[in-house]
Amino acid sequence: MLKLGVNIDHVATVREARYRGRGFGEPDPVAAARICEAAGAHGITAHLREDRRHMQDRDIWKLRETVKTRLNLEMANVPEIITIALKLKPDIVCIVPERRTEVTTEGGLEVAGAESSLTETRQKMNDAGIEVSLFIAPDEKQIEASARVGSQFVELHTGQFAEEFHRWVEATDEPAREDARPTDLPELQRLISGAKQAHALGLKVNAGHGLNYENLPTLFAAPHLVELNIGHSIVSRAVLVGLESAVKDMLRLMKDYRG
Ligand code: PXP
Repeated sequence: MLKLGVNIDHVATVREARYRGRGFGEPDPVAAARICEAAGAHGITAHLREDRRHMQDRDIWKLRETVKTRLNLEMANVPEIITIALKLKPDIVCIVPERRTEVTTEGGLEVAGAESSLTETRQKMNDAGIEVSLFIAPDEKQIEASARVGSQFVELHTGQFAEEFHRWVEATDEPAREDARPTDLPELQRLISGAKQAHALGLKVNAGHGLNYENLPTLFAAPHLVELNIGHSIVSRAVLVGLESAVKDMLRLMKDYRG
């Protein structure tokens, strides 16, 4: 069964927009995590950025106490956050690139250029009982390098796919009907071959970034997916219909995944 990890950074983003630096305020991402889990989410994802723009340290410690499913800590491969992760002991860390000027994580990790430091971090995490995922573009070289690093998972970056899907919808003005899914999108084809390659190399395959209720059924052409990490579209829908419904709607869609 395809699993859903809900990224709740966006809940903290709303709080920080009003209460930045004050150590309190709503909405509370920990309360959001509880609702997501009660609605059936299989995991909670939070990114402790070096600039602390959304999640704060107190959030992730409370999340560690509260989350009953799996806590996935997204993090840059930097000493400060590595130290925190090793103490926090999330179930899994997903190593991502971080640029201070980006709105959200934009590109995939350059694994091929940082194999030795990523292998060292991967080993430290595994020794502490924490699984490791690397957030990468569906690129042959990055997938091969991820296998050499020895990570348990890769998370394939679906941001480009989401952009292409959006351009296709705009250009065709077509509701995304079952028979009108754009399965020939180049980025979807890259995700399909990337998922096959990663699976063949013994990596478990997650995917995430930019996934929403419209583009998800098209992504289902990609095989071997274990978990999707989805944040913005769920939190956005939650503003209109509530978080519980938003999570349940996503889980309902995900039931159609055939692997
Ligand atoms: N996966 C990773 C590694 C991310 O950095 C993000 C964005 O924080 C997501 C998944 C979720 O992306 P979105 O918020 O667009 O659903």
